[in-house]
Amino acid sequence: MPTLRSATAGMASPTAISTPRSAKRRLTSPRRAAGSPDVSQFTSPHKSPHVGTVGTPKVLSASPRSSRKRLYGDLVAAEKPKWNPRDPAQMQAVKEALHVATVPSCGLVCRDDEQRRVLEFCKGCVEQERAGSLYVCGCPGTGKTLSINKVKESVARWADEMGMATPDALSISCTSLANTHEIFNKILAKLLTRKKATGKLSPLQQLQTMFSHKESAPRRMLLVVVDEMDYLITRDRAVLHDLFMLTTYQFSRCILIGVANAIDLADRFLPKLESLNCKPLVVTFRAYSKDQISDIIKHRLMVLEYDVFEPMALEFCARKVAAASGDMRKALGVCRSAVEVFEARLQESSDQEFGVVTFDHMDVALTKAFKSAVVDSILCLPQHQQMVLCALANTFHHCKRKTTTLGELNKSYIEICRSTQVPAVGMLEFSNMCMVLSDQGFMKLGQSKEDKLRKVMLQIDSSEITFAFKGNRFFQKCLEPPKF
Ligand SMILES: Nc1ncnc2c1ncn2[C@@H]1O[C@H](COP(=O)(O)OP(=O)(O)O)[C@@H](O)[C@H]1O
Ligand SMILES: [Mg+2]
Repeated sequence: MPTLRSATAGMASPTAISTPRSAKRRLTSPRRAAGSPDVSQFTSPHKSPHVGTVGTPKVLSASPRSSRKRLYGDLVAAEKPKWNPRDPAQMQAVKEALHVATVPSCGLVCRDDEQRRVLEFCKGCVEQERAGSLYVCGCPGTGKTLSINKVKESVARWADEMGMATPDALSISCTSLANTHEIFNKILAKLLTRKKATGKLSPLQQLQTMFSHKESAPRRMLLVVVDEMDYLITRDRAVLHDLFMLTTYQFSRCILIGVANAIDLADRFLPKLESLNCKPLVVTFRAYSKDQISDIIKHRLMVLEYDVFEPMALEFCARKVAAASGDMRKALGVCRSAVEVFEARLQESSDQEFGVVTFDHMDVALTKAFKSAVVDSILCLPQHQQMVLCALANTFHHCKRKTTTLGELNKSYIEICRSTQVPAVGMLEFSNMCMVLSDQGFMKLGQSKEDKLRKVMLQIDSSEITFAFKGNRFFQKCLEPPKF
């Protein structure tokens, strides 16, 4: 019988629930735990710029000695000077290059197409002096805010070069609004820099009136970036509709760019906007792939004159983060954390040879970052339930499909039992186990007269399952791709 790390209660009764209550409670929203861009879990005290701030990040500054010209020259010449991590200035420069609040001054990689589409849209509006709306969506950490801020700068530069009036610009983060209607206050205040607001009408009504009459309409175009729009979508759909409607008035001068994290929300509010005749153009930011994450990190590190990471370490981080969420914020957090692990070990050693951040340091950082409540709960399950999760991970790992049936899942489970030589439980008990896993939020079970035809959907990220069993030989075997 194989030795198991976390399945002590499982053998006698595979259906026993051993997840602690607190873990169960935390599991109600497992996706959030998996993909949330919570940088606070890293040792760095810095906060993410995500909440409440738009467009005021730091600009990347390298160590005083680094010059970009020399740096690009270095890229051609193979030999780079060695990093001295004991030099506080160098260590600081490394951490800064990896900090989420640091904006790469040399432009963004991997978001050319998205930026181009948004820029073309804005140029079109400015050229034709027409209002318009655009909806940008994508998961957290996919570079939406950063890209839109860059586009905002590009629009101003382009208009200037073309000798056109540069549009006014206003960025609003919806999370900083005291209430949803305040958004109209902000837009109005931007348009009425000199004029006084009229007391009787609400800010929305004033905007509507202003955009309905040629005499009162502003002459300059106004580019309004509404970031973290999820807040409006979920809180007050009417405000959202009124906001987009502002671009449909005859004399409106608003170029509205709404930015939201949730992609599925588009399906819920776009049809309504379409029926109101103001469907925005949609630009979707897809999650970063492994190669993109790796390119972005390397690009950010170009301001440094030296190599900081072993290539394998960066590759490992990119692969892990891409598999989990493709969230750049998470990738940067993990890299910073790996530097801190390296730094801590350096302080303990008297070794004169400094070295670089290695695969091992990255492994520690990744373990810290991905060890979530979900992983903890998986580790507390009885063995057979853990094996069912492995069967689920195997089913969904290599395909885009997100549902299977209980019958198919049972086949995959039996295959795992066969390959690990563990006696499988019968169908009834298997179905009970799945119900327990469903109650705990790991999976969702559909309804059907026949048990085997019940639909099964994984409710957590499959990478959490693979991550939970990393380093456990028995479960590594369970997670080998099915052979049928
Ligand atoms: N293409 C990129 N190049 C460099 N850094 C990036 C890139 N995309 C994202 N980042 C980093 O990740 C952080 C999160 O990006 P952000 O634009 O705020 O994501 P979103 O708005 O989609 O949640 C940024 O602050 C930036 O540091
Ligand atoms: Mg954002």
